[in-house]
Amino acid sequence: MTKTRTVHCCSSCGAQHPKWNGQCTACGEWNTLEEQTSLASSPARIPPPSGMSSGPVRIDQIPNSTHQTQSTGISELDHVLGGGLVPGSVTLIGGEPGIGKSTLLLQLMAWWPGRALYVSGEESTEQIHLRARRLGAIRPDLWLLAENSLPHVISAIAEITPELVVIDSIQTISDPASDSLAGSVSQVRACTQRLIAEAKNRNIPVVLVGHVTKEGGLAGPRALEHLVDTVCSFEGDRHHSLRLLRATKHRYGATGELGLFEMGTYGLVGVPDANAMFLVDRSAAIAGSAILPTVEGHRPLMVEVQALTVPAPPQIPARRVGQGVDGSRLSLLLAVLQQRAGVAVGHHDTYLSTVGGVKLTDPGSDLAICCAITSSLMRHPLPSDLVILGEVGLGGELRQVSHAHKRLAEAARMGFRCAVVPEHSPGSADIEVLRAETLLEALALTGMCPG
Ligand code: TYD
Ligand code: MG
Repeated sequence: MTKTRTVHCCSSCGAQHPKWNGQCTACGEWNTLEEQTSLASSPARIPPPSGMSSGPVRIDQIPNSTHQTQSTGISELDHVLGGGLVPGSVTLIGGEPGIGKSTLLLQLMAWWPGRALYVSGEESTEQIHLRARRLGAIRPDLWLLAENSLPHVISAIAEITPELVVIDSIQTISDPASDSLAGSVSQVRACTQRLIAEAKNRNIPVVLVGHVTKEGGLAGPRALEHLVDTVCSFEGDRHHSLRLLRATKHRYGATGELGLFEMGTYGLVGVPDANAMFLVDRSAAIAGSAILPTVEGHRPLMVEVQALTVPAPPQIPARRVGQGVDGSRLSLLLAVLQQRAGVAVGHHDTYLSTVGGVKLTDPGSDLAICCAITSSLMRHPLPSDLVILGEVGLGGELRQVSHAHKRLAEAARMGFRCAVVPEHSPGSADIEVLRAETLLEALALTGMCPG
Protein backbone atom coordinates (compact mmCIF):
# COMPACT_ATOMS: atom_id res chain seq x y z
CA MET A 1 0.00 0.00 0.00
CA THR A 2 1.30 3.44 -0.84
CA LYS A 3 1.47 5.83 2.07
CA THR A 4 0.90 9.53 1.69
CA ARG A 5 2.44 12.23 3.83
CA THR A 6 1.63 15.89 4.24
CA VAL A 7 4.37 18.46 3.80
CA HIS A 8 4.24 22.23 3.81
CA CYS A 9 6.01 23.75 0.88
CA CYS A 10 7.15 27.39 0.74
CA SER A 11 5.72 29.14 -2.32
CA SER A 12 8.69 31.49 -2.40
CA CYS A 13 11.75 29.25 -2.15
CA GLY A 14 10.31 25.75 -2.47
CA ALA A 15 11.66 24.53 0.90
CA GLN A 16 9.66 21.73 2.50
CA HIS A 17 8.65 21.72 6.18
CA PRO A 18 6.98 18.88 8.12
CA LYS A 19 4.72 21.34 10.01
CA TRP A 20 2.93 24.56 9.13
CA ASN A 21 4.66 27.71 10.26
CA GLY A 22 3.88 31.41 9.85
CA GLN A 23 7.36 32.01 8.50
CA CYS A 24 9.52 29.90 6.20
CA THR A 25 12.72 29.24 8.13
CA ALA A 26 14.65 28.74 4.86
CA CYS A 27 13.97 32.09 3.16
CA GLY A 28 12.33 34.16 5.91
CA GLU A 29 9.13 34.92 3.94
CA TRP A 30 5.84 35.10 5.88
CA ASN A 31 2.61 33.20 5.07
CA THR A 32 4.12 31.32 2.14
CA LEU A 33 3.76 27.72 3.39
CA GLU A 34 1.20 25.65 1.49
CA GLU A 35 -0.02 22.19 2.48
CA GLN A 36 0.76 19.47 -0.01
CA THR A 37 0.30 15.72 -0.08
CA SER A 38 3.02 13.55 -1.52
CA LEU A 39 3.81 9.85 -1.68
CA ALA A 40 5.97 8.92 1.28
CA SER A 41 7.84 6.11 -0.34
CA SER A 42 8.52 7.66 -3.71
CA PRO A 43 8.80 11.41 -3.81
CA ALA A 44 7.69 12.64 -7.25
CA ARG A 45 10.74 12.90 -9.39
CA ILE A 46 11.08 13.56 -13.06
CA PRO A 47 13.83 11.47 -14.62
CA PRO A 48 16.81 13.53 -15.77
CA PRO A 49 16.81 14.39 -19.47
CA SER A 50 18.55 11.86 -21.67
CA GLY A 51 22.25 12.47 -22.05
CA MET A 52 22.55 13.72 -18.47
CA SER A 53 23.00 10.37 -16.67
CA SER A 54 25.98 8.90 -18.47
CA GLY A 55 27.90 7.84 -15.34
CA PRO A 56 31.33 9.14 -14.35
CA VAL A 57 33.64 10.13 -17.22
CA ARG A 58 37.31 11.12 -17.03
CA ILE A 59 37.57 14.82 -17.85
CA ASP A 60 40.32 14.39 -20.47
CA GLN A 61 38.17 11.87 -22.35
CA ILE A 62 35.37 14.31 -23.01
CA PRO A 63 35.55 15.61 -26.60
CA ASN A 64 35.85 19.36 -27.11
CA SER A 65 32.49 20.89 -27.72
CA THR A 66 31.52 24.41 -28.61
CA HIS A 67 28.10 25.80 -27.99
CA GLN A 68 26.67 26.96 -31.27
CA THR A 69 24.64 30.05 -30.53
CA GLN A 70 21.82 30.99 -32.84
CA SER A 71 21.47 34.74 -33.26
CA THR A 72 18.05 36.01 -32.22
CA GLY A 73 18.09 38.80 -34.81
CA ILE A 74 17.79 41.34 -31.97
CA SER A 75 21.29 42.67 -31.41
CA GLU A 76 20.73 43.90 -27.83
CA LEU A 77 19.33 40.49 -26.86
CA ASP A 78 22.29 38.76 -28.53
CA HIS A 79 24.61 41.08 -26.59
CA VAL A 80 23.07 39.97 -23.25
CA LEU A 81 23.12 36.28 -24.22
CA GLY A 82 26.69 36.37 -25.53
CA GLY A 83 25.73 35.76 -29.16
CA GLY A 84 22.23 34.28 -29.09
CA LEU A 85 20.24 31.28 -27.90
CA VAL A 86 21.92 27.90 -27.49
CA PRO A 87 20.01 24.85 -28.84
CA GLY A 88 18.77 22.69 -25.97
CA SER A 89 19.00 25.54 -23.47
CA VAL A 90 16.22 26.96 -21.32
CA THR A 91 16.10 30.70 -20.66
CA LEU A 92 13.89 32.32 -18.06
CA ILE A 93 12.96 35.99 -18.54
CA GLY A 94 11.52 37.75 -15.50
CA GLY A 95 10.10 41.23 -15.14
CA GLU A 96 7.22 43.23 -13.75
CA PRO A 97 3.86 43.13 -15.51
CA GLY A 98 3.70 45.57 -18.41
CA ILE A 99 7.45 45.95 -18.77
CA GLY A 100 7.45 44.36 -22.23
CA LYS A 101 8.31 40.66 -21.86
CA SER A 102 5.61 39.46 -24.26
CA THR A 103 6.54 42.18 -26.75
CA LEU A 104 10.24 41.26 -26.69
CA LEU A 105 9.50 37.57 -27.16
CA LEU A 106 7.04 38.12 -29.96
CA GLN A 107 9.70 40.20 -31.70
CA LEU A 108 12.15 37.36 -31.11
CA MET A 109 9.66 34.98 -32.76
CA ALA A 110 9.28 37.38 -35.69
CA TRP A 111 13.02 37.36 -36.45
CA TRP A 112 13.71 33.71 -35.70
CA PRO A 113 14.81 32.02 -38.91
CA GLY A 114 12.90 28.75 -38.34
CA ARG A 115 9.56 27.45 -37.17
CA ALA A 116 8.56 28.85 -33.80
CA LEU A 117 5.77 28.14 -31.30
CA TYR A 118 4.47 30.82 -28.95
CA VAL A 119 2.40 29.40 -26.08
CA SER A 120 0.40 31.91 -24.08
CA GLY A 121 -1.44 31.04 -20.91
CA GLU A 122 -2.52 34.64 -20.46
CA GLU A 123 -3.80 35.95 -23.78
CA SER A 124 -6.00 34.62 -26.57
CA THR A 125 -4.56 33.93 -30.03
CA GLU A 126 -6.60 36.94 -31.32
CA GLN A 127 -4.92 39.24 -28.80
CA ILE A 128 -1.48 37.91 -29.70
CA HIS A 129 -2.28 38.23 -33.40
CA LEU A 130 -3.26 41.88 -32.89
CA ARG A 131 0.04 42.63 -31.19
CA ALA A 132 2.00 40.60 -33.74
CA ARG A 133 0.46 42.72 -36.53
CA ARG A 134 1.57 45.88 -34.77
CA LEU A 135 5.08 44.46 -34.43
CA GLY A 136 5.26 43.19 -38.00
CA ALA A 137 5.62 39.65 -36.68
CA ILE A 138 3.19 37.90 -39.06
CA ARG A 139 4.94 35.06 -40.85
CA PRO A 140 3.78 31.57 -41.79
CA ASP A 141 6.32 29.76 -39.62
CA LEU A 142 5.06 31.37 -36.42
CA TRP A 143 2.52 29.23 -34.55
CA LEU A 144 0.36 30.43 -31.66
CA LEU A 145 -1.22 28.35 -28.93
CA ALA A 146 -3.40 29.72 -26.11
CA GLU A 147 -3.14 26.95 -23.56
CA ASN A 148 -2.70 26.32 -19.83
CA SER A 149 -2.36 22.57 -19.81
CA LEU A 150 1.13 21.08 -19.95
CA PRO A 151 0.20 17.85 -21.78
CA HIS A 152 -1.47 19.92 -24.55
CA VAL A 153 1.66 22.08 -24.83
CA ILE A 154 3.88 18.99 -25.08
CA SER A 155 1.70 17.42 -27.78
CA ALA A 156 1.66 20.72 -29.72
CA ILE A 157 5.46 20.71 -29.65
CA ALA A 158 5.45 17.13 -30.94
CA GLU A 159 2.98 18.04 -33.70
CA ILE A 160 4.56 21.28 -34.93
CA THR A 161 8.22 20.37 -34.23
CA PRO A 162 9.26 24.00 -33.71
CA GLU A 163 12.89 25.13 -33.56
CA LEU A 164 12.07 27.63 -30.81
CA VAL A 165 9.40 27.51 -28.09
CA VAL A 166 8.28 30.45 -25.94
CA ILE A 167 6.06 29.85 -22.90
CA ASP A 168 4.35 33.03 -21.67
CA SER A 169 4.23 32.53 -18.70
CA ILE A 170 5.43 29.45 -16.82
CA GLN A 171 3.19 30.33 -13.83
CA THR A 172 0.07 29.92 -15.99
CA ILE A 173 0.96 26.40 -17.17
CA SER A 174 -0.10 23.45 -15.05
CA ASP A 175 -0.41 19.70 -15.27
CA PRO A 176 -3.95 18.49 -14.56
CA ALA A 177 -2.57 15.07 -13.61
CA SER A 178 -0.71 16.56 -10.67
CA ASP A 179 -2.63 16.89 -7.42
CA SER A 180 -1.10 20.22 -6.39
CA LEU A 181 -2.75 23.55 -7.16
CA ALA A 182 -2.12 25.36 -10.46
CA GLY A 183 0.53 28.03 -9.93
CA SER A 184 1.89 26.35 -6.77
CA VAL A 185 5.62 25.82 -6.41
CA SER A 186 5.55 22.11 -7.11
CA GLN A 187 3.40 22.61 -10.23
CA VAL A 188 5.60 25.32 -11.67
CA ARG A 189 8.73 23.37 -10.88
CA ALA A 190 7.42 20.12 -12.35
CA CYS A 191 6.23 21.91 -15.54
CA THR A 192 9.63 23.59 -15.88
CA GLN A 193 11.43 20.27 -15.48
CA ARG A 194 9.23 18.69 -18.13
CA LEU A 195 9.92 21.57 -20.54
CA ILE A 196 13.66 21.38 -19.81
CA ALA A 197 13.56 17.69 -20.74
CA GLU A 198 11.74 18.63 -23.96
CA ALA A 199 14.37 21.27 -24.80
CA LYS A 200 17.26 18.85 -24.21
CA ASN A 201 15.66 15.91 -26.04
CA ARG A 202 14.71 17.95 -29.09
CA ASN A 203 17.82 20.16 -28.90
CA ILE A 204 15.81 23.35 -29.30
CA PRO A 205 15.92 26.55 -27.23
CA VAL A 206 12.97 27.14 -24.90
CA VAL A 207 12.26 30.56 -23.41
CA LEU A 208 10.06 30.85 -20.32
CA VAL A 209 8.50 34.05 -19.02
CA GLY A 210 8.42 34.31 -15.22
CA HIS A 211 6.43 36.75 -13.12
CA VAL A 212 8.26 38.71 -10.48
CA THR A 213 7.23 39.61 -6.95
CA LYS A 214 7.01 43.18 -5.71
CA GLU A 215 10.55 42.81 -4.36
CA GLY A 216 11.78 42.05 -7.86
CA GLY A 217 12.57 38.33 -7.39
CA LEU A 218 11.01 35.71 -9.64
CA ALA A 219 7.60 34.89 -8.19
CA GLY A 220 7.04 31.59 -6.48
CA PRO A 221 9.88 29.17 -6.82
CA ARG A 222 13.29 30.71 -6.55
CA ALA A 223 14.21 27.11 -7.25
CA LEU A 224 13.30 27.72 -10.91
CA GLU A 225 16.43 29.80 -11.24
CA HIS A 226 18.49 26.74 -10.33
CA LEU A 227 16.82 24.56 -12.93
CA VAL A 228 17.22 26.70 -16.04
CA ASP A 229 20.42 27.54 -17.95
CA THR A 230 19.95 31.29 -18.21
CA VAL A 231 18.03 33.82 -16.15
CA CYS A 232 17.42 37.29 -17.56
CA SER A 233 15.64 40.15 -15.89
CA PHE A 234 13.84 42.87 -17.76
CA GLU A 235 13.79 46.12 -15.84
CA GLY A 236 12.94 49.76 -16.20
CA ASP A 237 10.38 52.28 -15.17
CA ARG A 238 7.05 51.34 -16.77
CA HIS A 239 6.25 55.03 -17.25
CA HIS A 240 9.56 55.64 -18.99
CA SER A 241 10.34 54.23 -22.40
CA LEU A 242 13.78 52.83 -21.49
CA ARG A 243 14.08 49.10 -20.73
CA LEU A 244 17.13 47.26 -19.43
CA LEU A 245 17.74 43.57 -19.96
CA ARG A 246 20.46 41.75 -18.07
CA ALA A 247 21.46 38.14 -17.50
CA THR A 248 21.81 37.22 -13.82
CA LYS A 249 22.73 33.61 -14.54
CA HIS A 250 24.17 32.25 -17.77
CA ARG A 251 25.62 28.76 -18.18
CA TYR A 252 26.91 29.56 -21.68
CA GLY A 253 28.62 32.88 -21.15
CA ALA A 254 29.23 35.92 -19.00
CA THR A 255 26.56 37.59 -16.89
CA GLY A 256 26.26 41.28 -16.27
CA GLU A 257 26.04 42.42 -19.89
CA LEU A 258 23.31 44.99 -20.30
CA GLY A 259 20.88 45.26 -23.20
CA LEU A 260 19.06 48.55 -23.69
CA PHE A 261 15.74 49.03 -25.44
CA GLU A 262 13.25 51.79 -25.96
CA MET A 263 9.54 50.92 -26.01
CA GLY A 264 7.97 52.64 -28.99
CA THR A 265 4.73 52.52 -30.95
CA TYR A 266 5.94 49.49 -32.90
CA GLY A 267 7.58 47.54 -30.13
CA LEU A 268 11.05 47.54 -28.61
CA VAL A 269 13.94 49.15 -30.43
CA GLY A 270 17.56 48.58 -29.39
CA VAL A 271 19.38 51.61 -28.01
CA PRO A 272 23.10 51.04 -28.52
CA ASP A 273 23.99 54.56 -27.26
CA ALA A 274 21.78 55.11 -24.24
CA ASN A 275 23.85 57.86 -22.70
CA ALA A 276 22.55 60.52 -25.03
CA MET A 277 19.01 59.43 -24.10
CA PHE A 278 19.69 59.33 -20.35
CA LEU A 279 21.02 62.84 -20.21
CA VAL A 280 18.70 64.59 -22.64
CA ASP A 281 16.22 65.87 -20.02
CA ARG A 282 18.85 66.88 -17.52
CA SER A 283 18.50 70.34 -16.04
CA ALA A 284 21.97 71.44 -14.97
CA ALA A 285 21.01 74.20 -12.56
CA ILE A 286 19.12 71.96 -10.12
CA ALA A 287 20.63 71.25 -6.73
CA GLY A 288 20.61 67.53 -5.83
CA SER A 289 21.65 66.14 -9.21
CA ALA A 290 24.95 64.32 -9.76
CA ILE A 291 26.25 62.35 -12.73
CA LEU A 292 27.79 58.96 -12.10
CA PRO A 293 29.87 57.20 -14.75
CA THR A 294 28.99 53.56 -14.10
CA VAL A 295 29.62 50.33 -16.04
CA GLU A 296 27.21 47.52 -16.76
CA GLY A 297 29.03 44.47 -18.10
CA HIS A 298 31.41 46.05 -20.59
CA ARG A 299 29.22 49.03 -21.26
CA PRO A 300 29.90 52.44 -19.67
CA LEU A 301 26.73 54.29 -18.71
CA MET A 302 26.22 57.86 -17.47
CA VAL A 303 23.50 57.80 -14.81
CA GLU A 304 21.94 60.85 -13.21
CA VAL A 305 21.37 60.43 -9.47
CA GLN A 306 18.83 62.83 -7.98
CA ALA A 307 18.31 63.63 -4.32
CA LEU A 308 15.73 65.74 -2.54
CA THR A 309 15.97 66.56 1.15
CA VAL A 310 13.19 68.25 3.09
CA PRO A 311 13.03 69.05 6.84
CA ALA A 312 11.21 66.22 8.65
CA PRO A 313 8.26 67.14 10.88
CA PRO A 314 9.30 67.33 14.57
CA GLN A 315 9.00 64.12 16.64
CA ILE A 316 8.61 61.97 13.53
CA PRO A 317 11.56 59.83 12.39
CA ALA A 318 13.09 61.03 9.11
CA ARG A 319 12.05 59.10 6.00
CA ARG A 320 14.60 57.60 3.64
CA VAL A 321 13.25 56.54 0.30
CA GLY A 322 15.48 55.21 -2.47
CA GLN A 323 14.40 54.31 -6.00
CA GLY A 324 16.97 52.33 -7.94
CA VAL A 325 19.23 52.31 -4.86
CA ASP A 326 19.26 49.73 -2.07
CA GLY A 327 17.55 51.18 1.04
CA SER A 328 20.15 49.90 3.50
CA ARG A 329 22.99 51.33 1.36
CA LEU A 330 21.21 54.69 1.41
CA SER A 331 20.89 54.57 5.23
CA LEU A 332 24.57 53.66 5.54
CA LEU A 333 25.69 56.54 3.30
CA LEU A 334 23.48 58.98 5.23
CA ALA A 335 25.12 57.81 8.47
CA VAL A 336 28.62 58.29 6.98
CA LEU A 337 27.67 61.74 5.66
CA GLN A 338 26.44 62.75 9.12
CA GLN A 339 29.30 61.30 11.18
CA ARG A 340 32.34 61.67 8.91
CA ALA A 341 31.57 64.75 6.86
CA GLY A 342 29.36 66.71 9.27
CA VAL A 343 26.44 66.92 6.83
CA ALA A 344 23.34 67.39 9.01
CA VAL A 345 21.01 64.94 7.27
CA GLY A 346 19.50 63.58 10.50
CA HIS A 347 16.38 65.76 10.64
CA HIS A 348 15.60 65.62 6.95
CA ASP A 349 13.49 63.30 4.86
CA THR A 350 15.70 62.06 2.03
CA TYR A 351 14.38 60.92 -1.34
CA LEU A 352 16.82 59.49 -3.84
CA SER A 353 16.20 58.24 -7.33
CA THR A 354 18.07 57.27 -10.46
CA VAL A 355 16.85 58.67 -13.76
CA GLY A 356 15.48 56.17 -16.29
CA GLY A 357 14.74 53.42 -13.75
CA VAL A 358 18.36 52.18 -13.61
CA LYS A 359 19.08 49.98 -10.58
CA LEU A 360 22.45 50.86 -9.08
CA THR A 361 24.42 48.01 -7.56
CA ASP A 362 27.81 49.52 -8.42
CA PRO A 363 29.71 50.42 -5.20
CA GLY A 364 31.37 53.18 -7.24
CA SER A 365 28.05 55.06 -7.05
CA ASP A 366 28.47 55.89 -3.31
CA LEU A 367 30.25 59.21 -3.77
CA ALA A 368 27.81 60.48 -6.41
CA ILE A 369 24.90 59.60 -4.09
CA CYS A 370 26.56 61.45 -1.16
CA CYS A 371 27.28 64.50 -3.36
CA ALA A 372 23.69 64.57 -4.68
CA ILE A 373 22.27 64.49 -1.12
CA THR A 374 24.65 67.19 0.13
CA SER A 375 23.97 69.30 -2.96
CA SER A 376 20.22 69.17 -2.25
CA LEU A 377 20.67 69.91 1.44
CA MET A 378 22.97 72.88 0.78
CA ARG A 379 20.95 74.01 -2.28
CA HIS A 380 24.19 74.05 -4.22
CA PRO A 381 23.93 72.81 -7.82
CA LEU A 382 26.97 70.81 -8.92
CA PRO A 383 28.91 71.92 -12.02
CA SER A 384 27.13 70.66 -15.14
CA ASP A 385 30.33 69.26 -16.69
CA LEU A 386 31.29 67.19 -13.63
CA VAL A 387 31.08 63.42 -13.06
CA ILE A 388 31.61 61.80 -9.65
CA LEU A 389 33.03 58.37 -8.97
CA GLY A 390 34.12 56.44 -5.86
CA GLU A 391 33.20 53.96 -3.17
CA VAL A 392 32.75 55.39 0.34
CA GLY A 393 33.98 53.42 3.37
CA LEU A 394 32.48 53.61 6.86
CA GLY A 395 35.39 55.83 7.93
CA GLY A 396 34.49 58.36 5.23
CA GLU A 397 37.51 57.27 3.15
CA LEU A 398 37.23 56.92 -0.63
CA ARG A 399 38.10 53.70 -2.40
CA GLN A 400 39.00 53.02 -6.01
CA VAL A 401 36.49 51.48 -8.37
CA SER A 402 36.85 49.06 -11.26
CA HIS A 403 37.12 50.14 -14.92
CA ALA A 404 37.87 53.77 -13.93
CA HIS A 405 39.61 54.42 -17.23
CA LYS A 406 36.70 53.21 -19.33
CA ARG A 407 34.19 55.20 -17.27
CA LEU A 408 36.17 58.43 -17.58
CA ALA A 409 36.75 57.96 -21.32
CA GLU A 410 32.99 57.62 -21.88
CA ALA A 411 32.31 60.67 -19.67
CA ALA A 412 34.74 62.66 -21.82
CA ARG A 413 33.04 61.39 -24.98
CA MET A 414 29.72 62.65 -23.63
CA GLY A 415 31.20 66.13 -23.14
CA PHE A 416 32.00 66.08 -19.40
CA ARG A 417 35.19 67.94 -18.63
CA CYS A 418 35.93 67.19 -15.00
CA ALA A 419 35.78 64.15 -12.67
CA VAL A 420 36.06 63.79 -8.90
CA VAL A 421 37.74 60.44 -8.17
CA PRO A 422 39.40 58.64 -5.20
CA GLU A 423 43.03 59.56 -4.49
CA HIS A 424 44.65 56.47 -6.04
CA SER A 425 42.46 56.16 -9.12
CA PRO A 426 44.31 55.93 -12.44
CA GLY A 427 44.50 59.19 -14.37
CA SER A 428 42.90 59.99 -17.69
CA ALA A 429 44.15 61.96 -20.66
CA ASP A 430 40.60 62.71 -21.77
CA ILE A 431 39.22 64.54 -18.74
CA GLU A 432 40.51 66.69 -15.87
CA VAL A 433 40.75 64.53 -12.75
CA LEU A 434 40.30 65.95 -9.23
CA ARG A 435 41.48 63.55 -6.54
CA ALA A 436 40.16 63.26 -3.00
CA GLU A 437 41.16 60.99 -0.14
CA THR A 438 38.01 61.41 1.93
CA LEU A 439 34.34 62.18 1.48
CA LEU A 440 34.88 65.58 3.12
CA GLU A 441 37.66 66.44 0.65
CA ALA A 442 35.46 65.38 -2.27
CA LEU A 443 32.60 67.60 -1.06
CA ALA A 444 35.04 70.52 -0.77
CA LEU A 445 36.28 69.90 -4.34
CA THR A 446 32.71 70.21 -5.61
CA GLY A 447 32.33 73.56 -3.82
CA MET A 448 30.44 72.25 -0.78
CA CYS A 449 31.86 72.78 2.71
CA PRO A 450 29.43 71.40 5.29
CA GLY A 451 29.71 72.39 8.94
P1 TYD B 1 3.77 43.56 -22.65
O1 TYD B 1 4.80 43.08 -23.62
O2 TYD B 1 2.43 42.93 -22.70
O3 TYD B 1 4.35 43.45 -21.18
P2 TYD B 1 4.52 42.14 -20.23
O4 TYD B 1 4.41 40.94 -21.08
O5 TYD B 1 5.88 42.30 -19.61
O6 TYD B 1 3.46 42.22 -19.19
O7 TYD B 1 3.56 45.12 -22.95
C1 TYD B 1 4.00 46.12 -22.16
C2 TYD B 1 3.46 47.49 -22.50
O8 TYD B 1 4.07 47.98 -23.66
C3 TYD B 1 1.98 47.59 -22.72
O9 TYD B 1 1.45 48.42 -21.67
C4 TYD B 1 1.80 48.29 -24.01
C5 TYD B 1 3.17 48.76 -24.39
N1 TYD B 1 3.48 48.61 -25.83
C6 TYD B 1 3.97 49.69 -26.52
O10 TYD B 1 4.13 50.79 -26.00
N2 TYD B 1 4.29 49.52 -27.86
C7 TYD B 1 4.14 48.33 -28.49
O11 TYD B 1 4.44 48.22 -29.69
C8 TYD B 1 3.63 47.21 -27.75
C9 TYD B 1 3.43 45.88 -28.38
C10 TYD B 1 3.33 47.39 -26.41
MG1 MG C 1 2.91 39.45 -21.02
